Amino acid sequence: MEALEPGKIPKEIVEFVQGPKGQGYRLRYDVEGLMSEYRPKHREHMLNIPTPLLWIGGLGGLLFSAVLAWNLTRPMLQMRRAFGRVAQGDLSVRLFSSMGKRHDELSDVARDFDSMAERLQVLVKAREELLHDVSHELRSPLARLQLAIGLARQNPLNVETSLQRIEHEAGRLDKMIGELLALSRAENSNMPDEEYFDLFGLVEAVVNDARYEAQLPGVEIALKADAGVQSDFTVKGNAELMRRAIDNVVRNALRFSARGQTVTVSLTQAEQWLNIDVEDQGPGVEEDKLSSIFDPFVRVKSPLSGKGYGLGLAITRKVMIAHEGKVDAHNAVPHGLVISLQVPHWKI
Ligand SMILES: Nc1ncnc2c1ncn2[C@@H]1O[C@H](COP(=O)(O)OP(=O)(O)OP(=O)(O)O)[C@@H](O)[C@H]1O
Ligand SMILES: [Mg+2]
Repeated sequence: MEALEPGKIPKEIVEFVQGPKGQGYRLRYDVEGLMSEYRPKHREHMLNIPTPLLWIGGLGGLLFSAVLAWNLTRPMLQMRRAFGRVAQGDLSVRLFSSMGKRHDELSDVARDFDSMAERLQVLVKAREELLHDVSHELRSPLARLQLAIGLARQNPLNVETSLQRIEHEAGRLDKMIGELLALSRAENSNMPDEEYFDLFGLVEAVVNDARYEAQLPGVEIALKADAGVQSDFTVKGNAELMRRAIDNVVRNALRFSARGQTVTVSLTQAEQWLNIDVEDQGPGVEEDKLSSIFDPFVRVKSPLSGKGYGLGLAITRKVMIAHEGKVDAHNAVPHGLVISLQVPHWKI
């Protein structure tokens, strides 16, 4: 018998054995034949992974990538379509509801898109309404101007009264345009001429001007402020717009006050806010109309309403919003109106 070498497999092993009756046998083991019989016929394994598993894995991977790609491209496509619709002026388009149960960055983008579209829709609607109201309001003084010109042409004796009427209407148109410009300036919240100013000094100046006018109707204007040594009423913003906002409120209060009544202007500070309350003892405003008096061209019917355009409080609200402040109205007890203005207190 051949000696077996370590690490080397012999081709065959031959051995002689003896039977019980003394007969001799020669046994031959075909090692190579036996091994090749038990060795797999083909190379079915790759990286020791069985082929069916390889197929399942490969197909699964492909399917997963396809689902992932579809999951990402579908919302992208929806967004593209939505942006296209907004670009064409359709602001009613919303995305978040079509995102299903998604809670990832794409659904956040969809939510932001929706709030953008909503804000744009509100702004565009407000613009349209304002434009509609402005053109409507411009019509009446223009009609009266034309009438005055017509009357003057008809009869030369009417020239003087017509000229007076023309002058009056032109003045009103000028006032209205001035107020509209103020409104649009206040709307532009990135105020270009931003400065730091003392709100107490500003309120004092407005009150002093109003006191001068209040002499004639006999109305008293009181100013209350917790202006101690420690008090500081610094506000960041546009002083001219702020003056106009406060002036509109004080003037309204004055107009709705009768002889002997008092308009109280109080300036207080609470945490980061500065509050200006303007209270009169006039008739006040019906509860259901309180929220609408800040809308442009809103005038509540009353004998004291005067000939304003209903733009004063709309300007006030816009100025307050531009200063990151608030405005509110409520009726006083027993009667009168309180307009509260709130602006953030500027602190280093
Ligand atoms: N102090 C007040 N008391 C009662 N009603 C008021 C008072 N202030 C405002 N209002 C009501 O709110 C409406 C809107 O006020 P706003 O100042 O915007 O307009 P206006 O004073 O009529 O016109 P404009 O200010 O453009 O000259 C007024 O027409 C009036 O009906
Ligand atoms: Mg007014």
